[in-house]
Amino acid sequence: MASIAVYSVKGGVGKTTFAANLAWCAATISRRETLLWDLDPSNGAGYLLGVDPKKKRTAESVFSAERAPAKLIRKTDYPSLHLLPADESIRSLDRQFDRIGKKKRLAKLTQSLGKDYDRIVFDCPPVLNELSAQVMRAADLVIVPLPPSPLSTRAFEQVVDAVRGSGKGHPPILPVLSMVDMRRNLHKEARAANPKWPIVPLASAIEQCAVERRPIGAFAPRSPGARAFAQLWTAIERKLASKKK
Ligand SMILES: Nc1ncnc2c1ncn2[C@@H]1O[C@H](COP(=O)(O)OP(=O)(O)O)[C@@H](O)[C@H]1O
Ligand SMILES: [Mg+2]
Repeated sequence: MASIAVYSVKGGVGKTTFAANLAWCAATISRRETLLWDLDPSNGAGYLLGVDPKKKRTAESVFSAERAPAKLIRKTDYPSLHLLPADESIRSLDRQFDRIGKKKRLAKLTQSLGKDYDRIVFDCPPVLNELSAQVMRAADLVIVPLPPSPLSTRAFEQVVDAVRGSGKGHPPILPVLSMVDMRRNLHKEARAANPKWPIVPLASAIEQCAVERRPIGAFAPRSPGARAFAQLWTAIERKLASKKK
């Protein structure tokens, strides 16, 4: 099992869009048993997969030891792709982690789910706190979506610093330029400054995921956006494979 976190300290950069689409790629292209674990109480990842939340406030009980997380997992419309939804109660998670005083609670739960899943993708909230520190202890790879700007490199370094500050040692971090429009000069410059970073283009088909409530690969498989996510997923698999060696 390998776990991949989509993380940034900023909101609106494409984390949830990445997480849902990459999880779909893992399940559909790589045929991995995949769990998309939504850690953001706004529940965007489930929304993008067309899974509506249940009314009960149960998400935090995933962490409170009694409840087996497997009980909260939901099926999606896609074979091999499951969802562990978030809800409002996850907002108190930070305090809860403090209270239970377990630095590796999320890592242990992730490990225990590894018997059922090949890939676990975390959709993270834009926070820097005990929850994000737990994510860094649990993830094998961290994907950071960065909207292109002259400050992209700096924004990335800030995330790396933040991650570093959250504990000794951290997983490898892969920056990805998000919402790239090559007609814009600043975007071209950001691309030129970071030629090795993968790209996800600005595309109305990608935005459309939130209307369709389906991953782009499910409704526009030949679009540039779908191809970009497929390529990014391949790069992620390669990175995970090289890490294992
Ligand atoms: N590559 C893209 N092209 C066009 N719109 C995008 C793209 N990526 C994300 N969006 C849109 O940007 C908004 C923020 O994306 P989201 O994934 O929710 O970000 P985050 O989870 O970081 O807050 C959403 O409306 C989403 O549809
Ligand atoms: Mg989000």
